[in-house]
Amino acid sequence: MLKAFANAYAATLADPQLNTNIQLVKEALYHRNYEEAFNSPERLRAYIVRWSPARALAYTHIFKQYEAIGQALAPESNVLCIGGGAGAEIAALSNFPNVRVTVIDLAVWEPVVEPLTQALGTQVKIINDDALRIPFNPAEFDVITSLFTTNELFTQSKAGTLKFLAALTAKCRPGTLFVIIESAGSYSTVDVNGKTFPMQFFLDYTFKRDSWEHVYRSDAEWYRTPQEVEQNYPYKLENMRYMIRVYRHL
Ligand SMILES: C[S@@+](CC[C@H](N)C(=O)[O-])C[C@H]1O[C@@H](n2cnc3c(N)ncnc32)[C@H](O)[C@@H]1O
Repeated sequence: MLKAFANAYAATLADPQLNTNIQLVKEALYHRNYEEAFNSPERLRAYIVRWSPARALAYTHIFKQYEAIGQALAPESNVLCIGGGAGAEIAALSNFPNVRVTVIDLAVWEPVVEPLTQALGTQVKIINDDALRIPFNPAEFDVITSLFTTNELFTQSKAGTLKFLAALTAKCRPGTLFVIIESAGSYSTVDVNGKTFPMQFFLDYTFKRDSWEHVYRSDAEWYRTPQEVEQNYPYKLENMRYMIRVYRHL
């Protein structure tokens, strides 16, 4: 999998401007200026080579570690990755045979992620649109993921995101899994009526109210890239500290 990233983006990895582009993306993400972070192919490529390989490793581990997710990713299952255009989910899911992957992303990832899907030998349906508009049929999916994206949805529109979750609830089939991963800690928060809540409190309340049960929840876990794996990629692979929620629709 790491080889696929390294081969697909050899030119980007060798680009002397890469570190500058990574810094620009990092700064924009820190300030939650997501539009700025993903507004050019150079920045999208910088994001892919800097963040997606480590995330792909972490997601592969997580999808295999939690039995309910692994079981749901059976052959012929349909998975929707909200905000999955940067390739990490695509790469992780390529480890599960015959899973059908649909990605919906606001940024124009398709031409940027294509070398990766080619290198992985996977086929993915990419919808370039705002997920909050729900330009897909939620009832088609066995698993829906929102990985390091939920924060962005709430930043764009809290009311819109709540409406989105309610509409998904109304349309998803019973048994559908919803997997949410975000940074652990203070970065992931939602403001309501002048009060700041950790995102997970807010999500737990909303999902429970909307008839989803908890399958798994943890507010802080680590994925640490094994050292021997790190040697297979020419850029530093970060460890990931994350909070995770897995809900099942009742
Ligand atoms: C921080 S990146 C995370 C990428 C990837 N999921 C990962 O884990 O590395 C967030 C992604 O969500 C996308 N995104 C943000 N708002 C969106 C929306 N309303 N609809 C669809 N995609 C959205 C962004 O374009 C970006 O690709």
